[in-house]
Amino acid sequence: MSLTIRIMDVHAREILDSRGNPTVEAEVTVIAGEGAFGGPCINGRNMEAAAGNHKETVGNCGCPAPVGAPYPLSGKLFTGRASVPSGASTGRFEAVELRDKESRYQGKGVQKAVRNVNTVLREALLGRNALCQEEIDKILVETDGTENKEKLGANATLSVSMAAARATAAALDMPLYRYLGGISAKKMPVPMMNILNGGKHADNTVDFQEFMIMPVSAKSFQEGLRICAEVYQKLKQLLVKDGLSTGVGDEGGFAPSLKNPKEVLDYIVKAALAAGYQPGSDIKIALDVAASELYQEDSGMYYFPGETKALHGSRGDLISSADTKESSVLRSTEEMIALYEELCKEYPIISIEDGLNEDDWDGWKKLTERLGDKVQLVGDDLFVTNTGRLSAGIRLRTANAILVKVNQIGTLSEAFAAIEMAHKNGYKAVISHRSGETEDTIIADIAVAVNAGQIKTGAPCRTDRVSKYNQLLRIEEELGGVSVYEDPFRD
Ligand code: PGA
Ligand code: ZN
Repeated sequence: MSLTIRIMDVHAREILDSRGNPTVEAEVTVIAGEGAFGGPCINGRNMEAAAGNHKETVGNCGCPAPVGAPYPLSGKLFTGRASVPSGASTGRFEAVELRDKESRYQGKGVQKAVRNVNTVLREALLGRNALCQEEIDKILVETDGTENKEKLGANATLSVSMAAARATAAALDMPLYRYLGGISAKKMPVPMMNILNGGKHADNTVDFQEFMIMPVSAKSFQEGLRICAEVYQKLKQLLVKDGLSTGVGDEGGFAPSLKNPKEVLDYIVKAALAAGYQPGSDIKIALDVAASELYQEDSGMYYFPGETKALHGSRGDLISSADTKESSVLRSTEEMIALYEELCKEYPIISIEDGLNEDDWDGWKKLTERLGDKVQLVGDDLFVTNTGRLSAGIRLRTANAILVKVNQIGTLSEAFAAIEMAHKNGYKAVISHRSGETEDTIIADIAVAVNAGQIKTGAPCRTDRVSKYNQLLRIEEELGGVSVYEDPFRD
């Protein structure tokens, strides 16, 4: 018995992401069943012309006639739609996000990537069996033919890869997480929820990119989400009380100008307590330093522009960086590690992402030796969802978790391969959004499909972030009694 779900059409368009920049949205249309379970169609390309009239033409394309029981949805068309996110603190080793580099949208148009989908990728996929996601993704990878998808764009390939999965799940009348994960998909992820933004995601004086909370003591995702949202609201009240800005950064976390990481952490601890939760037992803290953005190639040091400004000017009256050159806050690799050790002693920090530069394997190894047995060390720019870089990390014993961003690699199968490699080697996998997002919620389904146990998808603020959390609420409700929610750091 082999059910086939043939690709009948592939179409992309340019849409906007949450920062108002263009991104690629694709639709893949499939036809379910081809009349029966059975009769593999080898020459599916003929099916394009047969859309809407395929029953009569099954067999005309040179295939053996289908045999077996009819599939109830046989002959129906299904369309899956997906859109691609985009980073700001993009790692140097990520697959290429193809941008037009023309005057429209200040060079950020994606018409070339859209054209690549609508021509060469469409041509390569018409008639293929979308039920073989790996096969579809292999075709995408091979049609591009480059190491980092620079020819067609990882934004082009990913849009199709994800839309094909959605269309197939629809044709199977299955929820996406179930299609992607099979019978074992049941673990709800603990949110790694961003509540305070800095770095490239805001224009405040906070240098670490993300301060996040993890509701580890909750009994369900729904409860964990509520805890985070309550802490978020308390944090807002505390900031208002102190006359600080409650404007938000790209991922919906507040972006006040605070003077250093400790000041931020103090606010988070206070907000948790004010909301009635115990930092350390109910809530743990996670950081994304995004240290590659702070790293200076020439000096080999990490430069903290916000901390420098905050040291030299009063808040809201920051002096120019030229005035502060002599007394800049710079930290060496050793000083960065020492800073993390100090912060982990003083605050209930359980996870640190991109604590060091994306190229600094020696530094990462040291960091892992010093903190790896107590703290989750997540490689984002370091691993870029790439099995080649992850296997190097595993070999060198660097980090102990991988951040998974599907657009860093450009197809679902490759992202899943990275997750599988991580899990097999005792590394954790955290499924993640990008700072530029859309209303697409696929990462929620992926997190459950692979039983990742952790998801990072911003603040409980702005629909591009909240939509993922809301999708997880739906999935948890659907899973009912079989869903599992647990502290990912419990021994
Ligand atoms: P990015 O940020 O999407 O801008 O890369 C997210 C992250 O660094 O984790
Ligand atoms: Zn990151």
